[in-house]
Amino acid sequence: MTDDQPSRPAHVPLAGVIGMPIAHSRSPRLHGHWLRRYGIAGHYIPMPVMPEHLAEVLRALPRLGFVGINVTIPHKEAVLTLADAVTDRAALIGAANTLIFRPDGKIHADNTDGYGFIANLRQNAPDWQPDAGPAAVIGAGGAARAVVASLLDSGVRELRITNRTRIRSEQIKAEFGARLVVYDWAQAGNMLEGAATVVNATSLGMEGKQPLRVPLDALSPDALVTDLVYTPLMTPFLLDAQARGCRVVDGLGMLLHQAAPGFERWFGRRPEVDEETRRIVLE
Ligand code: ATR
Repeated sequence: MTDDQPSRPAHVPLAGVIGMPIAHSRSPRLHGHWLRRYGIAGHYIPMPVMPEHLAEVLRALPRLGFVGINVTIPHKEAVLTLADAVTDRAALIGAANTLIFRPDGKIHADNTDGYGFIANLRQNAPDWQPDAGPAAVIGAGGAARAVVASLLDSGVRELRITNRTRIRSEQIKAEFGARLVVYDWAQAGNMLEGAATVVNATSLGMEGKQPLRVPLDALSPDALVTDLVYTPLMTPFLLDAQARGCRVVDGLGMLLHQAAPGFERWFGRRPEVDEETRRIVLE
């Protein structure tokens, strides 16, 4: 034991991800790669956790040598009520994906999805300007909330949103404010007119699901189009946008970048997201 970690057993640092199911998670592969790349003694472990065991697990993990964890479905909302401190952005989004177990035993909850989303755009479209024109977000689930928060934070002046279930976009507007304009799902094509940044934040287009069908006639070839779905990397929506001359950015980078702040906090080194990282996670 060190002086500043009186309640923690001396051990190589442990981190991991909790969810249910968890077998499909790519996070262990990603963090394992970074641990090896930087020669850091540590482990990152996938852990299936049932909702009824969540509180007990969160109490136990720091005592086992865990310095923090990622959180995925279905626990992203519930962990907020169990954390001792919640960042403003996690509170605004209503979900956390990254927990830090502090040496004093307190649990700190953050949401890095929005950071990951923006970092992916900045890396793959370096001249992207958030204030070049309206942003259009398709979808209003948990992932869309993180995207909306980060786009507003980046300086987008008008953010249009549409969702199959309109009430969810109305709810987001009620929480995020005057820069949002809600469009009806049937008007999704109109929403794209003049948009500079277009995001699919629904799960449509994922392998095994229907493609996202939005008429792209109004979409300008100057728009930057991105998709949160990364299986496949090039979704039908991105392929259609690309065929219209738009620049497209796939969603894998968001997964990689959202993981970086947690890795840095737990293991003390900011990891790089590069081609090798992408390759390892895709293998
Ligand atoms: P996540 O946290 O990944 O965003 P979610 O909260 O379940 O997951 O949100 C999924 C998003 O995909 C929602 O915007 C959802 O629309 P609804 O709010 O109407 O459910 C959207 N979505 C999923 N299946 C869809 C479908 N078949 N047609 C249209 N939208 C769909």
